[in-house]
Amino acid sequence: MRNILVLVGSGTKKGNTSQLADAFCKGATKAGHRVHKVFLGDKKLSGCQGCEACKGKNPICIIKDDMQEIYPLINQCDTIVLASPLYFWTISAKIKAFIERLYAIAENDQFPPKETVLLMTAGDDNFWTFEQPISYYSFVTKAIRWKNIGMCLAGGCKSDPKNKYIDEKFLQRAHELGTMI
Ligand SMILES: Cc1cc2nc3c(=O)[nH]c(=O)nc-3n(C[C@H](O)[C@H](O)[C@H](O)COP(=O)(O)O)c2cc1C
Repeated sequence: MRNILVLVGSGTKKGNTSQLADAFCKGATKAGHRVHKVFLGDKKLSGCQGCEACKGKNPICIIKDDMQEIYPLINQCDTIVLASPLYFWTISAKIKAFIERLYAIAENDQFPPKETVLLMTAGDDNFWTFEQPISYYSFVTKAIRWKNIGMCLAGGCKSDPKNKYIDEKFLQRAHELGTMI
């Protein structure tokens, strides 16, 4: 049994990314894991301000925003799922801000070890659609020594308010990924 923290970095609560994350969560719950989903869309979450206060005597992040609720959840989990829409060919600003704020919990450049999963949705459906975020995710996870245990990348989504659409095959894949981890 794993403790899984699912971070949804989309602005839309019932959008494609949230649906993909929910499918993953259902699968993971079915497999006996404990899942905690956090919708970052309505959280105040700024990027790292580079003040280095966290590297002083009191090694905590001094930015008073909703990341303070998320730090303890990071401590408690084994696996972190990053769920993001593709925004301007990469991960959303909310997921990027979350990654930057990990800086505060690194001790001597060592980050708490985690397993990680990437879930993404996008409007386009080309072979290169997710090239940038995959490259970034692979680089970052390697650098901070997190172990990638799966990805589910859903292209061809629609997101105008009257016409939300994510192909069922991606929801099935995310569910399956959840059951397999
Ligand atoms: C600000 C913004 C930027 C986007 N940029 C891209 C993009 O670069 N490539 C793409 O394929 N889709 C892009 N999209 C479409 C979304 O990735 C897609 O509709 C996604 O499924 C939306 O997720 P959501 O329903 O969780 O909001 C963009 C959408 C928005 C709102």
